[in-house]
Amino acid sequence: MYVCLCNRITDQQVRDAALAGASRPAEIYPACGCAAQCGTCASTMRRLIDEHLVKIAAAAD
Ligand code: FES
Repeated sequence: MYVCLCNRITDQQVRDAALAGASRPAEIYPACGCAAQCGTCASTMRRLIDEHLVKIAAAAD
């Protein structure tokens, strides 16, 4: 599923970037080789990052 239409970033790319250490949208864009444009996707990215970090923390317990 596309999360960012401007840059064609998918939810999987966001999760991969979060796994690699990105913790906010401003870090996701460069991890995907692009830059923020309209910013509409930022809230969805934040939700995906938070969900992914919770799963990683739960798996570590
Ligand atoms: S939808 Fe992501 S920058 Fe526009």
